[in-house]
Amino acid sequence: IDIINLRSATKGVITIDPGYKNTGSCESAITFLEGDKGILRYRGYSIEELAEKATFLEVAYLLIFGELPTREQLTKFHNDIKGQSVVDEDVKKILDAFPKSAHPMGVLASLTSALTAFNPSSVNVNSEEDMYKAIVKIMGKFPVLAAWTLRKRNGLPLDYGDRSLGYVENILKMMFKQPNEDYTLNPILINALDKLLILHADHEQNCSTSTVRIVGSSHAGLFVSLAAGVSALWGPLHGGANQAVLEMLEAIKEDGGDTKKYMAKAKDKDDPFRLMGFGHRVYKNFDPRAKIIKKAADEVLANLGVEDPILDVAKGLEREALEDSYFVDRKLYPNVDFYSGIIYRAMGIPVEMFTVMFALGRLPGWIAQWREMRLNKEPIGRPRQIYTGATYRKFKSIDER
Ligand code: ACO
Repeated sequence: IDIINLRSATKGVITIDPGYKNTGSCESAITFLEGDKGILRYRGYSIEELAEKATFLEVAYLLIFGELPTREQLTKFHNDIKGQSVVDEDVKKILDAFPKSAHPMGVLASLTSALTAFNPSSVNVNSEEDMYKAIVKIMGKFPVLAAWTLRKRNGLPLDYGDRSLGYVENILKMMFKQPNEDYTLNPILINALDKLLILHADHEQNCSTSTVRIVGSSHAGLFVSLAAGVSALWGPLHGGANQAVLEMLEAIKEDGGDTKKYMAKAKDKDDPFRLMGFGHRVYKNFDPRAKIIKKAADEVLANLGVEDPILDVAKGLEREALEDSYFVDRKLYPNVDFYSGIIYRAMGIPVEMFTVMFALGRLPGWIAQWREMRLNKEPIGRPRQIYTGATYRKFKSIDER
């Protein structure tokens, strides 16, 4: 009866859907997913074709503005981004204040949020022109902050790399260039990183993207909305899975490589262990990104001549899961993060930076979703609840309790 009263009080029926498994929060024209068939398309273009033929910056433009750019549009976009890539000197002081051991995702979320203080005009965006200015600013500064979290961790002086390079090339240079060294870029790594960033660039209303949209729906600025997205991405059930996968593979290897033992743990309902990198909320057939990444991982390792025993553990787990009724019945397949860490590791990127790499890829998707939400004039996001607490209790003074 109480619930019926509460429902009528809201002038409508409230549906309860924990985890929003079947609740749509918006209409969107950005990314199409068909989980059962393993289809993923950005603005209508298949992920397979984009990963093979486009660059990350082209895909970023496509996601944000809806069309693949002409050569002129792409050059202008890149130049505008490059023109906004310098961060305020005082941001360096904030970075300096973090302990060297701080997790890079925490540092990245804080610095992204702090950018608002140094760019107050990015908050009140009232026109597409204001939006464009905020977008190129963050596309320019975010990779710098991401790369600098690694430089700080490695005790390297901060460096802007070389702005005459491509967007992705310069990310690598900013991350790895040693002082007084003419860092030469390996085209195989540039190509692999470009692909990885494209594969991570958008995935409709996932946890971090929904977070960006809901924070942005209060008309908080773009940068703080993105900072909230970075925090949401950090968790091991979402973007943090790529770090968790590698740590799990390492642990299995250290423990003698007995994949069967870990398969049994994953199936044991009294054991909190889950096979990280397996399962997906939407893909219940296969994750199309995982297929592309698996191929890219093989190519990168072969080209670099890396023989990583971790790959054998990964392949063993995948083989066993595909034949195991627990995984087959629940439609649990390797997801995008099962193989991405293997590539990052081959590139010399430390494990704590893996989720930062994911954030670099997801940045244009978050921006596109935020822009769409603002242009569509969506109302503030505000879910309802079914209240299950006490109906009414008379207050007792502290002496009566
Ligand atoms: N290992 C073992 N069992 C699993 C796993 C797993 N990785 N994933 C799901 N299951 C089981 C659940 O225990 C549950 O079993 P039950 O029906 O017997 O209770 C069933 O499969 C369904 O799982 P849910 O958690 O209800 O599925 P949901 O859609 O809520 O979760 C998620 C999806 C979070 C990705 C989950 O599969 C998981 O935790 N995977 C491991 C973490 C991971 O790889 N995350 C990255 C996702 S991809 C990304 O964010 C980019």
